[in-house]
Amino acid sequence: MKILITGANGQLGQDLQKECKRRGIDYVATDLLKNNLRHGASSAQSSGFTNNQQPATNNRTSQDKQISSLADSQFWQKNSSNNKQPTTNNCSCSDVPNCEPQATGHVLHLDITDLRTLPKIVAETKPDAIINCAAYNAVDKAEEDWKTAFMVNSFGPRNLAIISEELKIPLVHFSTDAVFDGTKGSPYMIWDTPNPLSKYGQSKLFGERLVSQYSTRSFIVRLSWVFGMGNINFVRKVIQWSKDTEELKGAADQTSCPSYTVDLSKAILDLLHTGAYGLYHLANSGFASKYELARETLKLVNWKGKITPVKSSEFDSAAHRPEFSAMDSFPLKETIGYELPHWKDALARFVKELAKTTDN
Ligand SMILES: NC(=O)c1ccc[n+]([C@@H]2O[C@H](COP(=O)([O-])OP(=O)(O)OC[C@H]3O[C@@H](n4cnc5c(N)ncnc54)[C@H](OP(=O)(O)O)[C@@H]3O)[C@@H](O)[C@H]2O)c1
Repeated sequence: MKILITGANGQLGQDLQKECKRRGIDYVATDLLKNNLRHGASSAQSSGFTNNQQPATNNRTSQDKQISSLADSQFWQKNSSNNKQPTTNNCSCSDVPNCEPQATGHVLHLDITDLRTLPKIVAETKPDAIINCAAYNAVDKAEEDWKTAFMVNSFGPRNLAIISEELKIPLVHFSTDAVFDGTKGSPYMIWDTPNPLSKYGQSKLFGERLVSQYSTRSFIVRLSWVFGMGNINFVRKVIQWSKDTEELKGAADQTSCPSYTVDLSKAILDLLHTGAYGLYHLANSGFASKYELARETLKLVNWKGKITPVKSSEFDSAAHRPEFSAMDSFPLKETIGYELPHWKDALARFVKELAKTTDN
């Protein structure tokens, strides 16, 4: 099996790459590399993009045809002002700026919103499944920059869903607890009605709807309060803040499920292999307020200062966030056979991993 990972430079994408590698699963890592140059995945593979170096064994000629028909279809023409195909460069990884070596390997440029290049790169990659970790996660910024949020969180996933349907391959797409308004007072079930409070939540909810509308082979997996080595996150920020002060405040009126990308990655690959498409809530067990998560983090790093629980209104933020958006994972355990470890256990492992790096 070969998996195309989008947004592979993000925190979930990086741990998914590691988990694929650990399991010997072939994958191609892609992300929105800033310089926006493009080159072909086939040349990328020959120079080491498929990190575990497994050659593609399956002949996907019919898939290629389907994908090209997608590229030529009315849909793409209608939505693209320029149907010109990208030039394929020869990537030598060391001198091509759109190929970024990462801790886990090499990453190929792929913008999920770019209708000109997406079908071509997918066709060259010949994936058996797509895992979409690409997202616009700047919750406050999305209040103003909402068009970008909707492009990346709704229409990019729609593009991948169309490809998933055309190629008859599974698409794993991620959403968020921010689709809920947080007023239920107990953990949200997958059948509870969303009512997002922010533009970010709206863009993720619309992404869910488009993915399920366009692909019959989609897993829509809602995550919450993700932490991992691959990017800045709340836990890392708390540790950074604690270095400069002896007093901190934590919002006691925002509660959800802190979740570690290492645990999420394992469950995502296990879920993919079940073929049980649909909507899931995926998180480490238990839930916590931001204050409790910060307090536990600070305990683990032996911080000697004082943290005080406060109301969210003490912080100046553009977006409204749900008060209680913890999610119940039913029927995830019934589908993959286990539930994820408690968030405190996950946090302890993460802080230990962070401590191994000098710059955390
Ligand atoms: N982080 C959380 O607390 C949280 C909570 C709930 C749900 N989620 C969801 O979980 C999933 C994984 O989140 P994460 O925390 O791993 O995200 P992340 O660390 O922010 O990574 C997202 C990656 O997507 C890339 N990207 C942005 N626009 C793109 C585009 N147009 N095409 C391709 N790649 C693009 C980003 O590149 P740049 O950095 O260059 O923009 C980044 O590398 C996302 O769907 C997210 O919405 C996250």
